[in-house]
Amino acid sequence: MTVVVFGSINRDLVMRVPHLPQPGETLAATSYDLLPGGKGANQAVASARQGVPTVMLGAVGEDAHGTAMLAVLAEAGVGTGGVQRLSGPTGLAHVFVSDAGENQIVIVPGANAALAAPTVFPAGAALAVAQAEVPAQAVARFFTLAHEAGARTLYNAAPALAEGRGLLPLADIVVVNETELAFFLGEQTVPESDAALAAAARRLMARAGQWVIVTLGGAGVLAEGPDGTVRLPARRVPVVDTTGAGDTFCGVLAARLAQGETMPRALAVAVLAAGLSVQRLGAAASMPTRAEVELALA
Ligand code: RIB
Ligand code: NA
Repeated sequence: MTVVVFGSINRDLVMRVPHLPQPGETLAATSYDLLPGGKGANQAVASARQGVPTVMLGAVGEDAHGTAMLAVLAEAGVGTGGVQRLSGPTGLAHVFVSDAGENQIVIVPGANAALAAPTVFPAGAALAVAQAEVPAQAVARFFTLAHEAGARTLYNAAPALAEGRGLLPLADIVVVNETELAFFLGEQTVPESDAALAAAARRLMARAGQWVIVTLGGAGVLAEGPDGTVRLPARRVPVVDTTGAGDTFCGVLAARLAQGETMPRALAVAVLAAGLSVQRLGAAASMPTRAEVELALA
């Protein structure tokens, strides 16, 4: 029931600002934190905090950020034996978080861009998870190896990049937000009603039996799959920082599915966990433990 995450590892340099900077504006931040990030590492931490065995396949550089990220992953209980150390810098993300909880992120890929395809898939793993911050051909190989090993694949097509399109058919479960959904469908507008969203999710389905899951931020989630539509609202919560909310969702969803929970149940837990993460600063730093999730569910 192990979750294997193939993806990016970043150090997030997070500045809290009164509002997001305008072009040409100089702004005084109210705080500055060095926090763990990268969609891959974030999703691995989210999964491990659910108490589910989790392994990370990725790359860091030979710098202090790489050392710090290996320590963060190990401390969260994520297996790091498959994290390569490459010459050059670790991935960096400069994150602005406004008082309204909005963010703006600039990424320097560093070692993530040089991540090679895996040659082996960890034996006995149930779920293979990847995102779009590492080379797409490497993700394709990872998903192929996962299927050969009998594991299910979950592709979080974030950020939305043209290279990601070819990976959609390789995923048993696709997770996108509304913007990513519109991008892959080549549509200018985001569907408004639940019925339009469900139809759009069905249009994105690359093959029969696939789940297409659309995260809706504060409005919860809509999933289209073999069992039809699952539509779950989110609780209203005070928002501090939404960075990594999607990663919390994906990591917790993967963990709960790997444990054998049904899709509707895993979705409900993942939505709740994402809602807990937005109430605290940081991406991986804000992710709830299994105990916190169970308490909130009770
Ligand atoms: O999804 C949030 C993450 O995206 C941040 O942690 C940042 O590192 C970027 O990769
Ligand atoms: Na957060």
